[in-house]
Amino acid sequence: MAVRKELPEYTVPSLTLEDGGKVAAILQGRLHALNDLALTLKHIHWNVVGPHFIAVHEMIDPQVDAVREMVDSTAERIATLGVPPRGTPGAIVAERTWEDYSLGRASTIAHLGALDEVYRGVIADHRQAAADTEDLDTVTNDLLVGHLRDLELFHWFVRAHLESSGGELSTSGATTETGAARKAEAAAKKEA
Ligand SMILES: [Fe+2]
Repeated sequence: MAVRKELPEYTVPSLTLEDGGKVAAILQGRLHALNDLALTLKHIHWNVVGPHFIAVHEMIDPQVDAVREMVDSTAERIATLGVPPRGTPGAIVAERTWEDYSLGRASTIAHLGALDEVYRGVIADHRQAAADTEDLDTVTNDLLVGHLRDLELFHWFVRAHLESSGGELSTSGATTETGAARKAEAAAKKEA
């Protein structure tokens, strides 16, 4: 099910009701993605095992805090645009267009490989949302660009664990979380 578009009774000054509703619908999709990301990051924080446990376990929590701030600013922008934000687990599951995170207890390197894939998806969709709001609403566009600055930094933190000294990513070419996890584990084994 896709995110439904609502026509608000009011919206921010100088936007038509139609455009306010359109921007809010774009943001609702990002709210689901960010809520999902915050939960997934905690799931990883609890399920990493093996070498570098404490480094990865502790790297994740500041990312959770930052993503939860993004969740709040996204939901409040939707409300500001005159549309009620939907933040319940049922709405996320009903309206999201991606599958649940696929790893349970697994090595730090496997989770980092899968998390590379998670961030790749979230960032690509966030960039699309930023592009789609550039002409519609500069304030929303600015909000999304601000998120991207942090999301892309966190993505690099993850990728730095997967990068060889030659600059290649072990997850290169992967298209699924489990595929990326396998590639990351294989590369780590080869190095050991
Ligand atoms: Fe914790």
